[in-house]
Amino acid sequence: MQVNKRSLEDVDLLGKRVLVRVDFNVPVEQGPEAIASYDHRLRATLPTIQYLCRTHSRIILCSHLGRPGGRIVEGLRMGPVAERLSILLSRPVKYLKNCIGPEVNQAIESMRNGSIVLLENLRFQADEETNDPDFAKALASLADIFVMDAFAVAHRAHASTVGVPQYIPSVLGLLAQRELEQMGRALESPLRPMAAILGGAKVGDKILILENLLAKVDMLFIGGGMAATFLRAGGHPTGSSIVEEDKLDFAFQLLARAKEKNISIHLPSDVVVAEGFSADSRQIATMQVDEVPEGWHIMDIGRRTINEFTKQLQLCKTVIWNGPLGVFEFPIFSEGTRRIGEVLATLDATTVVGGGSTVEAVESLGLVDSMSHVST
Ligand code: 3PG
Repeated sequence: MQVNKRSLEDVDLLGKRVLVRVDFNVPVEQGPEAIASYDHRLRATLPTIQYLCRTHSRIILCSHLGRPGGRIVEGLRMGPVAERLSILLSRPVKYLKNCIGPEVNQAIESMRNGSIVLLENLRFQADEETNDPDFAKALASLADIFVMDAFAVAHRAHASTVGVPQYIPSVLGLLAQRELEQMGRALESPLRPMAAILGGAKVGDKILILENLLAKVDMLFIGGGMAATFLRAGGHPTGSSIVEEDKLDFAFQLLARAKEKNISIHLPSDVVVAEGFSADSRQIATMQVDEVPEGWHIMDIGRRTINEFTKQLQLCKTVIWNGPLGVFEFPIFSEGTRRIGEVLATLDATTVVGGGSTVEAVESLGLVDSMSHVST
């Protein structure tokens, strides 16, 4: 996060226009009603917004939603998010149908102290993702102070994350601060044994995490789509599962380095496979990893793997989890993610869960309150 690490307490906020970069990237594909079931990211930002209300500042929230690629996508407007936020805050949140321009200026000019507006999806502007300086300047001109509270998108160098703080004073929001403290605690002085569970679609997305974790953990569990690349690197057949050919070498090296460092790596020993990659595949089977047939897809970890992972996880005192262990969005392939989530919820250990789809899984299983920290 390239912002000055001063916090909200360090600045005078009374009557100030405060631009708050939040991450309200919540799943809207299933319609606006579904936001209520996946509103952890909205709830996590409430302390910052409530603090700003108490200090009588004028609160201008901005976020991206999905990946519209620089054009307007009707299903990705921020209106439903503003409605849900308003319910959570029990106060009005005015949705503006643009993020810069004369109408936005006018709306902000007429704001009273303590009132809240939510700008339109930042990614409707191509200039957001290219970190265009004019766009960043235009956003910055809306406010006196910038608050960075979008921890979940802090790794992206976009206009609203790293551009705006070049032009106006910036501070961290309460959520971003809390995330840094919690993650810092879990990673810097963990109780041991410490484990990381990694899943999700791609090894390519997780290379840095994998590199960093290798220096810290005692055990590493790998599932989800990315397990296919590791299984192939270990010489197993993977059928038609997506294997990142260009990451095979990395996976191979990682397995070798883990061995050298005495880190136990746990890959699936059995998997649930389907003949087609779909929610209603007719042909489904559980088999050993050596038996995955040509043309079939690995969709979840199998029960033997769940039991093996469970036994090892029960020994751990710190567990970090990022990435579902199977195609969780298809209910028939959600068992691995669900069972491992349930195991974590019962551990006498520090459990940190992070990443968009992992948090959605934990939310839909009703396990948020059973984890030590659910990171946005
Ligand atoms: C996320 O959900 O991971 C963040 O909001 C970042 O979204 P992005 O991967 O589309 O940049």
